[in-house]
Amino acid sequence: MLVGVMLFLGACGGKETGLSPAAITTLASPELVVRGQYLATAGNCASCHTEPGGELMAGGLPFETPFGTIYSTNITPDPSTGIGAWGQGDFVNSMRLGVRPNGEHLYPVFPYTHFTRVTDEDLAAIYAYLQTLTPVALANKANAVSFPFNQRALLTLWKTLFFKPGVWEADPDKGPQWNRGAYLVEGLAHCSACHSPRNPLGAEKRGLAFAGGEYTDRAGDEGAYRPWSAPNLTATDRGLSLWTQEHLEDYIASGRNEFLESFGPMNEVIMNSTRHLQARDVEAIASYLKSLEPVHEAPPDEPDTVTMGRGRTVYNLHCGTCHLPTGEGDPEMGPKLNGGSLVVQDSNPASMINVILYSPEAPHGLDPRWRNPMEEFQYLLDDEEIAAVATYIRNSWSNRAGVVTAEQVARQRGS
Ligand code: HEC
Ligand code: HEC
Ligand code: HEC
Repeated sequence: MLVGVMLFLGACGGKETGLSPAAITTLASPELVVRGQYLATAGNCASCHTEPGGELMAGGLPFETPFGTIYSTNITPDPSTGIGAWGQGDFVNSMRLGVRPNGEHLYPVFPYTHFTRVTDEDLAAIYAYLQTLTPVALANKANAVSFPFNQRALLTLWKTLFFKPGVWEADPDKGPQWNRGAYLVEGLAHCSACHSPRNPLGAEKRGLAFAGGEYTDRAGDEGAYRPWSAPNLTATDRGLSLWTQEHLEDYIASGRNEFLESFGPMNEVIMNSTRHLQARDVEAIASYLKSLEPVHEAPPDEPDTVTMGRGRTVYNLHCGTCHLPTGEGDPEMGPKLNGGSLVVQDSNPASMINVILYSPEAPHGLDPRWRNPMEEFQYLLDDEEIAAVATYIRNSWSNRAGVVTAEQVARQRGS
């Protein structure tokens, strides 16, 4: 089988141009570079390849995976520490096949499982753009991955099981807008990388694409890494059916819509990537996502009346002034919690609990929308109280999203 895979990978190799990288830079037209920058923005390369306060694309950002910590790499055109010595074919191979020029396999935390869908022309443009960046001499950090996952050769096996390389194929039965949206969402925008459940080996579960996933990122001021739940983006009553196409377009184009504003890991997705996209690409993304067939959540369990009573008391004391007793929210004080938020009704309450424990972080670079920020409740409320108020919100008004337990709150505290 291994031989078969090697042949397969060999056979799919990208086109070598035979030109040196420097020659390509000279040849790349300004239009190609501008296009490459736009596509790199759609792929949000900068969010993962730039450390806070660090040089653009110089890498070094840690990713906490179940297998250990993997650092993003330097993709500036520095010849020794970056990808300056890579030809266009080398770059295409990394994006399309997840291999380095020396044959090493790359970890799929680098979403090449999605970037493989990108066309040769678009990859060439991204390559041309990356070659114009300021070269930064910064050595890659050593990963802290446990045995056997630190053996990159094992990724051959992983790829045979879970990875289908190849450019996105348009569906002739669908219109150009749907196809453009599918190309972007499945490829560069890689929305399902966070919004799909993964199997124990870290691969997205195919039949459950977009049905909700989990992503580890910083939460709270002390910057600890915690699980975040990414809600169901298929057409269920607790998922994307809560929003019209326009709600979704507003959210990805600006970070806010009539109901709410972005926080958590979506801040980077929106502020660094989707809000810079052309209106027609935003529309295409939204129309593709709105067309996804529903993958239903398990029916929610019924909360008991004691918990609902305790939750109501906490809510009226600490939350109702801004979110209103009706859960309808207020344009100046706080978002609508009745309907509206996918996070509130997510079957995995991790992100909702993070917001209550550590407070939602408003996206940087937008005019403040709310009169007062929501405070953090980690010291004010105990696990039982947070579980009760979350359960109350998830099962009041029109919401039906099941019980949150004190154990789930403890997990988000890291205790
Ligand atoms: C979700 C985070 C994430 C995003 C988004 C992302 N990358 Fe990466 N990338 C990584 C990580 C982590 C690695 C290191 C993988 C490894 O060590 O196996 C990596 C590796 C790479 C490599 C291989 C470099 C090397 O030294 O072997 C290239 C090339 C690359 N990324 C380019 C890009 C481009 C171009 C984009 C945007 C279109 C992008 N990446 C978006 C996380 C990301
Ligand atoms: C890096 C992981 C990640 C990626 C990539 C990602 N999401 Fe999310 N998304 C999340 C998480 C986590 C949440 C819940 C917490 C939050 O809103 O940040 C979320 C929430 C959402 C919500 C619900 C917001 C709410 O408040 O109810 C929508 C809609 C959404 N994402 C759409 C998208 C789209 C469209 C894309 C692709 C362009 C995308 N996401 C890519 C992680 C991600
Ligand atoms: C001072 C006003 C205020 C109080 C009090 C307050 N919140 Fe908030 N809350 C906000 C604001 C403002 C946001 C939106 C922040 C953003 O997204 O940028 C928010 C967001 C949320 C969200 C995320 C909703 C979404 O968009 O998906 C939840 C859940 C939430 N609050 C629950 C609570 C709970 C539970 C309490 C009480 C324990 C509480 N809030 C108290 C102002 C408040």
